[in-house]
This record gives sequence, C-alpha cells and structure tokens, in this order.
Amino acid sequence: MARQLLRSSLTTQLFLQDESRSFLSASDVESIVLSLRSADATNSYSDYHAAQLIRLLLCDEIDLQLYSVMVKKCLCSSSVVCKLFVGTFECSEGELSFLGDLSNAYVKLLHLYLLKLLNTDLRFEESCVSIVGSLVSLEFHSEYSQLCVSLFSQFFKSGCLWCVSLEDFADLRAKYESLFVFDESYICWARESRVDCSQNDTLSKLRDEITISHFYSHNPYPLWKQVDALMLKDPHFRDRFLPSLPNAFDSASVESILVAGCGAGQEAVFYSLLFPGSTVVAIDLSAASLLHAKRLADKYNASNLSFRQVDLLELTSEQSSFDLVVSSGVLHHLEIPLQGLKALSDLRSSGGFLKIGLYSAAARSVVEQARSILPRSFRRNPWLSSAELVQARRFLVESFSSAPGLSNLLLFEDFFEINAFRDLLFNPCEHTYDPCSIAAMLKECGLEFDGFQFQNIAVLNTYWKLFPHDVTGKDLVNWQAFEQLFPRAFIGMYNFWCH
Ligand SMILES: C[S@@+](CC[C@H](N)C(=O)[O-])C[C@H]1O[C@@H](n2cnc3c(N)ncnc32)[C@H](O)[C@@H]1O
Repeated sequence: MARQLLRSSLTTQLFLQDESRSFLSASDVESIVLSLRSADATNSYSDYHAAQLIRLLLCDEIDLQLYSVMVKKCLCSSSVVCKLFVGTFECSEGELSFLGDLSNAYVKLLHLYLLKLLNTDLRFEESCVSIVGSLVSLEFHSEYSQLCVSLFSQFFKSGCLWCVSLEDFADLRAKYESLFVFDESYICWARESRVDCSQNDTLSKLRDEITISHFYSHNPYPLWKQVDALMLKDPHFRDRFLPSLPNAFDSASVESILVAGCGAGQEAVFYSLLFPGSTVVAIDLSAASLLHAKRLADKYNASNLSFRQVDLLELTSEQSSFDLVVSSGVLHHLEIPLQGLKALSDLRSSGGFLKIGLYSAAARSVVEQARSILPRSFRRNPWLSSAELVQARRFLVESFSSAPGLSNLLLFEDFFEINAFRDLLFNPCEHTYDPCSIAAMLKECGLEFDGFQFQNIAVLNTYWKLFPHDVTGKDLVNWQAFEQLFPRAFIGMYNFWCH
C-alpha cells in the first residue's frame, strides 16, 4: 500500500502533467523563444521564463535539445540550482530538500532538464554524482524520491557514463523502489540501444575484423534525437529555411530524396516532413540504427519515408535516381570517401543536388590529441566495454589540467553519451578534411560547391565581415583562411550543398 502511494505521488507530480502535455502551436514556440532571447540579451531570466521553458519541455513535438543552453542559463538564475552548474552544491539536507520542492518553478525546470535533455555540462554531472553519493548514505526520504527518479533518468540517458558505481544506483533503486516502476520500458529501450562490447561473444569473434558495418551495428549513433516536427509544419519556418538552400535548387520540384547512411533517422525524418509530397528512401548498413530510425519515423508519422539496409556503394542509378541526396557524417567513415561521393553523385537525377556532411580536421584536432594521450590499451580500440569507456573518459577528465587545450573536448556533445563517446574517440575508420581538400574532392567528381549550411548563422556573418566580396560565400580558399582564424567554426561538421 505504502509503495502504491509512493508510486502515485511520484507520477502525479510531473508525469501526469506530462501526459496532459502543453499543446503548443509553432507560433507559441516561436514567441517563447523570442521572449527567452530577449531575457538572454539582458541576462535577466525570471520565474516567468522558467514557466515558459517548462511549457516548452513538456511539448514533445520539438527538438528539445536545441533549448538546453537557454534552460541552463535560466536555471542559473536560481542561486541554489546554479550551485550545481558551478560545482558548489553542498549536498546538505537543506539543499537536497530544496531540490525536492516541486512547487518552485526552477526546481521543476531542473527536474525536466534531467528527465528530458541530455546534460552536456561536466560540472553539473559531477554535482549529480555527489548527490547520488549523498542519497545513498542518507535514510529514505519521500521528498527525495523525484530527485532519484530524475537523476536515474539522466544517468541512463548518458548510457551510465558517469563516474558512479552501479552498486550505488542499485542501492538507490532498492531504497526508492518506485524507480523500477517508473522507467521499466525506458530502461529496456536504453539497454537495447547499447551493447557491452566486451561481453558479447559474437563481437569478440569480430575483433580482428573491424569494419564500419560492425561498429555501427553494435554502436548505433546518434541516439536520443528529436525532430522539430512542429516547426516544420509551420509555413513561416519553411519560408525561412528554404531560402537558405542553394539558389538553383528548386524545392518545389523535389519528388525523390535519398538519405544515405541515415543512422538513427533524425535527418531522414526531418527531410520527409520538410518535403511531405516527396518519396524519401533512407539507407544504412546498420540494422540496429535502422530499428531506431523506424521508431522515430513512426513517432512523427513520416509516411513518405521507407528504409533499406544496404551499402551506399551498392546502389545504382538504374535502380533509382533522386532529386536530392543527403549524407551527413557518413562518407568520412568509408575506406575511400571519394568513391562514396562519386557513387552518391551518380545517384542524382539530372539537375539533382547533394547535401554532404564531413569532419573538419581543424575542429577535431583535440580529438586526435585525446587519442594520443590515452593509455595504449584504450587507443583506437572500438570494442572497449562500457566500464572501460567510463575509465577512459575519467582518464581524459583528469588530464585536462596537465594537457593544454584538452578540455575543448567538452565542446563536443558526444562527450556526454556513451555511444557518442565511443564514436567520437574510438571509431575504426575516419577521415578529416579542410576546405581546400573538399574543393579537390568535388572537382574529381565534377561537382560544383553551392555553399555551407550553418545552424549558427553568426559564422557566416563573421565570414562576410572578413570577406565582403565573396557575396555567395562559395570561395573555399577564403574559407580555408577563415578556418585558420576560427578553428572551431565547423565543430559539428562541414555541411555543404553541391551539384
Ligand atoms: C555517424 S552516423 C551518421 C548518421 C546520420 N547521417 C546522422 O547524421 O544522424 C554514420 C552512419 O553511416 C552508416 N554507414 C557507414 N558506411 C555506410 C555505407 N557504406 N552505406 C550505408 N551506410 C553507411 C553507418 O552505419 C552509420 O549509421
């Protein structure tokens, strides 16, 4: 009976609200974001903004991770919650019970941050680890129940990457038994997504035979992605997005799209919603990734999207051709990327466009640095166990103070989730580029560069300040010089259009 009560009190507080989730329209989201931007400009977040962000985080139809920086800034206007981000949280009973007060908007926002977003702040993670330690040593208190649920959820989101013993979490689960109830389906899902490579027989047989196909079959990445479905349905958003496509690109005539190396499906779902009248085919080598991708497509009712498990090098234009071919973060993992680019180029219908994403050598130099300082047994070993990955990550964090620049690793979201972390540092095959080598590659394939696409338009504005004469932003020699000045400009990847 007591357990029953505890369960219902946990679910009533945040989760029932979640079910009656806020029905936001795309214009509601836009006005919330505008009001947050103005708060950001003056650094004056208030309870009102916390309440607005809560509405946003309760809406499932948008890519919540896009708002995590704003959420973090807003949380930092509560003096106690801010201590979690600056590393001064004391874990006293008073401070802990403050985090249990769900009537406080900032506390509620904090719980939603833990439940819904992937944290990408190391100090915050370290504060969470200390809280787990304190909760383990304290008696059961019902006011800490929600805190346990939220911490547990975030720990799983990271793929158990925190430096905390699984026994501690097992103790907490035993003490706050309702955790079992809360997340059973979530936990199963999270387990399915990850394979502990050291404990898997078939995998150990494959150790000598490291191919990209094996790697992504056992390490689907990137996970936990959402799509801004609400924004995509909004004609204003479409009007704003579409002009950023190359001039010659006629979006109205896009009837067929190929997403080559679709991974867990975010991009495939995005394009299928952006072009609802088109037929979208998404392919990948990894069955595990395709499983995630299909779930994402179902979630967003992307009915014009179909999937195939096939090597992009095996598709031929006799079978089909496409008005748009999209491939992000894929070609640089092929043994011969140029071969892949040629194959994709051949799959275009006449007048068709390509959108390609490739790693930048400059942005990823810190990744190389990290690889070089890892202990030899860890170096470039794609089959490290989960425990070894936690150890490797700890080793790197402890090296931040002695290895100048190494802490730039924290700029990569991938540092905070286990599959992403494996992909970041232990991928068996990876090539990197600079603007001039991209130009050479395009020339070999007879392709013309149509410009980079940026999530953060500030990069392009800075470029134009330096190179005002390159109005179209297509001069890759200028971009080479630009990247020397701003080596982190393409930290995500080079995303560019060509035809
Ligand atoms: C880093 S993931 C990127 C996934 C996706 N494009 C995204 O941006 O979310 C790379 C994906 O490319 C797939 N891949 C690699 N080589 C491939 C090939 N030759 N044919 C098809 N897929 C491939 C991998 O299986 C993996 O899922």
